[in-house]
Amino acid sequence: MLIAVDGPQRVFVTREIPEAALARLAEGLPGVRIDVHRGPGPIAADELARAARGAAALVCTLADRIDGALLASLAPPLRVVATFAVGYENIDLDAARRLGVRVTNTPGVLTDATAEIAVALALACARRVAEGDRFVRAGRFAGWGPLAHRGHAVYGSTVGIVGAGRIGLRVAATLRRGFDCEIVVHSRTAREDWQRELGARFVPLAELLERSDIVSIHCPLTRDTHHLIDARALARMKRSAVLVNTARGAIVDEAALVAALLSGAIAAAGLDVYEDEPRLAPGLAELPNAVLLPHIGSATHAARDAMGMLCAEAVIAELSGRTAPNRLV
Ligand code: DGY
Repeated sequence: MLIAVDGPQRVFVTREIPEAALARLAEGLPGVRIDVHRGPGPIAADELARAARGAAALVCTLADRIDGALLASLAPPLRVVATFAVGYENIDLDAARRLGVRVTNTPGVLTDATAEIAVALALACARRVAEGDRFVRAGRFAGWGPLAHRGHAVYGSTVGIVGAGRIGLRVAATLRRGFDCEIVVHSRTAREDWQRELGARFVPLAELLERSDIVSIHCPLTRDTHHLIDARALARMKRSAVLVNTARGAIVDEAALVAALLSGAIAAAGLDVYEDEPRLAPGLAELPNAVLLPHIGSATHAARDAMGMLCAEAVIAELSGRTAPNRLV
């Protein structure tokens, strides 16, 4: 049963999402209009404010800024914002709570996909995979050499995981079981299961940075984690170390990272996310020891389909007077 509102209900989707999710929305919300912004990139903020007016539900992405002013201009009739992401730092949850707007996200279904990309970046950086690919394509490969293209082994190395959530756990388990890595973790709370199953040790951030051969970031972006990895943190890392970030760009001070990569303070960085996405810090794209991906952590067909379905089910549930399982507020 749909909650009655004045006039026909409408769902606004800010970006094309998998068709199956749109079909599920249409099936689960008969009589409700589903409008989708179809364009090559994210919707502009002013267009979003205009296009979402009158919508009972908004399906957005991490590229849309859902701040208090926007929410206040849309609610009512806006009742639910379903973000097509696990991260939700782009949404003002306090404002949503005050305005009685429900917010949902998509945890769980992208864990394996994102962990896979973190491991891929760690391997690519440590073994200089992208650099080697560019070298061959440039026609510079003149034959095998005993001193050529040496990197560092991932096998048996020490991996520091920052943030003890689902994705961090999957990365730690993969590198522990598949590559015999020693795992150290930094997080607000020590997790007994990590210690029991992976022999992981929970340590202060400074110790993790000093001990790790690979540092992989898996915490959410909050006021506390903004620039958690700054110039001082980078200076603590080994010169042979690799930094991997598949979480949120602003956890790392990107200008400080460019300086550390340039000076050789750390060996390499593998990034899937950027501080001012999609823009890169000056100099980053020119660095041979940076492996740069276009935010594809969750980009498998299965994960993106599942994320779409979670959004659809959340909107259907909330507009039908039920509580979506992934309700944040
Ligand atoms: C998320 O879900 O927060 C990722 O960054 C994109 O899938």
